[in-house]
Amino acid sequence: MPGEEPIIALENVYKIFGPNPRGRAFDLCSSGVEKDEVQRQTGHVVGMRDISFSVNRGEIFVVMGLSGSGKSTAIRTVNKLHEATHGRVIVEGIDVQQLGGSALQAFRREKLSMVFQHFALFPHRNVIDNTAYGLKVQGIEKDERHEAAIEALAMVGLEAYAFNSTRELSGGMQQRVGLARALCTNPDILLMDEAFSALDPLIRRQMQDELMAIQSKLHKTILFITHDLNEALRLGNRVCILRDGKVIQIGTPEEILTEPADGYVAEFVQDVDQGRVIDVGKIMHPAVLLDTSLTLAECLDTLGKRRGGFVCDTDGRPTGMLTKTDAATALASGTTELASVLRTDFDSTTAAARFNDNYAAAGRGIPIAVVDDAGCLVGELEPQEIMEEMGRVEQLVDGFEREVFL
Ligand SMILES: Nc1ncnc2c1ncn2[C@@H]1O[C@H](COP(=O)(O)OP(=O)(O)OP(=O)(O)O)[C@@H](O)[C@H]1O
Ligand SMILES: [Mg+2]
Repeated sequence: MPGEEPIIALENVYKIFGPNPRGRAFDLCSSGVEKDEVQRQTGHVVGMRDISFSVNRGEIFVVMGLSGSGKSTAIRTVNKLHEATHGRVIVEGIDVQQLGGSALQAFRREKLSMVFQHFALFPHRNVIDNTAYGLKVQGIEKDERHEAAIEALAMVGLEAYAFNSTRELSGGMQQRVGLARALCTNPDILLMDEAFSALDPLIRRQMQDELMAIQSKLHKTILFITHDLNEALRLGNRVCILRDGKVIQIGTPEEILTEPADGYVAEFVQDVDQGRVIDVGKIMHPAVLLDTSLTLAECLDTLGKRRGGFVCDTDGRPTGMLTKTDAATALASGTTELASVLRTDFDSTTAAARFNDNYAAAGRGIPIAVVDDAGCLVGELEPQEIMEEMGRVEQLVDGFEREVFL
C-alpha cells in the first residue's frame, strides 16, 4: 500500500497564460474572479488557480476534469515544461521552479518519465531503440540499454517485437512501447497525460490492467491524467477533480462516489452510475465463514487475502463480521478472542439488488453481506471489487450498444 510520504507536492500553484501573467490577471484571479471574467478583462487565460495537492510514494494519483480544466497544465508544472506563475512545486524535496539548465535536464532524465496520449514514438527507429531512447540520452552503452529495454518490453508483453519497426504496430502496441520507454530508465515517478485516452475501450481496459499489474510489482509514484471518471476510479488510489483550473475535490474513489463535493462532481458520478444494469448476484462471491471456536490468529489465517469474514447463527444468518483490520489491530494490542472484535454494524444486501445501490455501503470500506429472503448468508461483496466492477460496467454497456447497432 502507498505510504504517506509526499513525493510530488503542488503548493498554491497558479498558472496564467499571456504576456503579463503576474500583472492584473493574477491579481483578479487570486482575489477570486472567475476564469472567464479574468479572460474578458485582461485577455489572459487562467490555466490553474491556487492548486494544491500531494502525491504519496507508491500511489497512483489521478487528476480528472473536462477538457480545458487544467490537467495538462498541472502535470507540466511537475517537470517544468510550464513555469508556475505563483506557488511552489516540490518533487522529492526539490523546488522544481528553481531548476534550470543542466540541473533541470538531469532532473527530467533521472527522476521522472512522461507518457503522452499520442505515443510520440520515433517512426524511423525500431521498437527497441524507441524503448531505450532515454538511456541513450543518458549515455548508456548499447548492450546495457538494450538489455534494460528488453526487460521493459517484457513488462508490457512486447519483447517479441523488439526489432520490429514501430510502424508495424497497432495503436495499443505503440502505447505499450510508450509505457516501456517510460519504464526503461527506471524513474521513481511516471507522469501519464491521457496515456490511454486514444485507445479503443477494450484495449484501454487491458492497458489499465497492465498498468496496475506493473504498479503492484514496481511501486512507482504515478501522476495520471484522464477526463474519464471510470478510468480515474479504477486506477486511482486517490482522485483529484479539477474544474476551470481549480481543485473541486480530492478523495479516494469511494469518497468521490459517496460524498461528491458539489453538483459538478455529482453529475460525473451519475454518468458512472451505469451500475444499474448489474445485479449483485453477478459480482458477489462466497463469504468466508468463521467459527466462534477459532482464535483471532486462526481467523486471520482463514481470511487469507479477503478483507473480512462472517459468523452465522445455526440457521445461517450472519450475526457478526470480522474485518482483517479489526483483527490485526486487536491482535497487536494483545486480544486473542474473536467474540470481542466482531462487528454487528455491517451492511447487508441481496443477490437481486442492483450494483449501484451498494455504492454508499461500499464507501465504508468493509465487506457487505449478501443474504437471501430468509436472511441467510449467500455471499459477500468487497468494496474494492465494486470499484473494479465499475470499469467493467463501462465495457458491458459499450458491448450492448455494439450489439444493437450491428
Ligand atoms: N500554451 C498555452 N497558451 C495559452 N493558453 C493555454 C496554453 N496551454 C493551456 N492553455 C489554457 O489553459 C487552460 C487549461 O488547459 P489544459 O491544456 O491544461 O487543459 P486540459 O485539462 O489538459 O484539457 P484537455 O482534456 O483538452 O487536454 C485552457 O483554458 C487552455 O486553453
Ligand atoms: Mg490535456
